[in-house]
Amino acid sequence: MPAALPSLRLGAHSLPNRLFVAPMAGVTDRPFRQLCRRLGAGYAVSEMVTSRKDLWNSLKTSRRANHDGEAGPIAVQIAGTDAPMMAEAARYNIERGAQIIDINMGCPAKKVCTKWAGSALMQDEPLATEIMAAVVEAAAPFGVPVTLKMRTGWCETEKNAQRLALAAQDAGIAMVTVHGRTREQGYKGLAEYDTVASVKAALQIPVVANGDIDSPQKAKAVLDRTGADALMIGRAAQGRPWIFAEIDHFLRTGEALPPPRVQDASDWLIEHLHDHYSLYGALAGMRSARKHIGWAVRGLPGGEAFRQHMNLLESCEAQVIALRQWFAELADQHERLPVSTLPLGDDGGDTDDASSQKEHAPKASA
Ligand SMILES: Cc1cc2nc3c(=O)[nH]c(=O)nc-3n(C[C@H](O)[C@H](O)[C@H](O)COP(=O)(O)O)c2cc1C
Repeated sequence: MPAALPSLRLGAHSLPNRLFVAPMAGVTDRPFRQLCRRLGAGYAVSEMVTSRKDLWNSLKTSRRANHDGEAGPIAVQIAGTDAPMMAEAARYNIERGAQIIDINMGCPAKKVCTKWAGSALMQDEPLATEIMAAVVEAAAPFGVPVTLKMRTGWCETEKNAQRLALAAQDAGIAMVTVHGRTREQGYKGLAEYDTVASVKAALQIPVVANGDIDSPQKAKAVLDRTGADALMIGRAAQGRPWIFAEIDHFLRTGEALPPPRVQDASDWLIEHLHDHYSLYGALAGMRSARKHIGWAVRGLPGGEAFRQHMNLLESCEAQVIALRQWFAELADQHERLPVSTLPLGDDGGDTDDASSQKEHAPKASA
């Protein structure tokens, strides 16, 4: 695993490896997915798109549906609470290029949860099953596989992942990803893999393990513990998108790759930023690029001071010039990136993406 096993198939698609980028609202836009794929990820799921029809033409949703030049398969995640609306969202996205539809039952965002979407759906198994069946039925005529992403359960005493995963398999879902935390945990505590292992043991369809995978060694441990068919990595890829190549190499050879050259890391980031600016435009792009730059310099010598300075810069050109210079100075001191061992953020990720949640919150009537 991953290269030692035959490549994973999803419907008509054969994935180049079994290392996936997790969907992250506000992060895994098309430029970031392309960057991760270029640096070793075999598959990338888009940020969630609401099932609310009235928002499909909004700028945010249309950016999220931007797959220009993206290598397939194009996987679009949908979120919502109403089976017919979710079926329509699946058809709408398929007609606009989605080759795989992923149903979000993993997001703990409050505004989504009070309206019974995301991981809150795990609490209502009949509704969750109805949604899965409706989406599978909508996607079937197009030959589009439907996958499911969920957590281990609603709370510590209600870990129903295995039961729901079996219902998913019966409904025709093609692959299940399990983030090893309950909805109640948010991003607190540690991901546990026993529940992921039990889901894997119970299912015939592929199971993907997710949660807290932040190094090649951890990836191997999670794989050994769960027997999963693939691994999904989210936060550890922020600012470190080459983690996929590192994991792939370690799983194939048992050896750790050296950290990337400072010059390469700088080039990758700057190319990513240009792509990012062209998707979002100069002003919004300059602002939203700050988080990617902050992650890239996080834990590096002088990184925090640079991040604070960079947050004061008000143009894309100034960001790029400052970054080039900062990395050039780092490259004078270090040929390869000094290794940083910072913990993964536990800021709640998607729960912080307040503006996107407005868009994801279904109508009261939904
Ligand atoms: C900023 C952020 C945004 C996220 N957005 C989504 C999302 O849109 N859909 C989803 O299913 N999960 C979302 N997640 C959860 C991740 O896909 C993943 O399950 C979680 O971060 C655990 O994996 P990790 O420990 O590798 O980060 C998000 C997480 C973060 C940090």
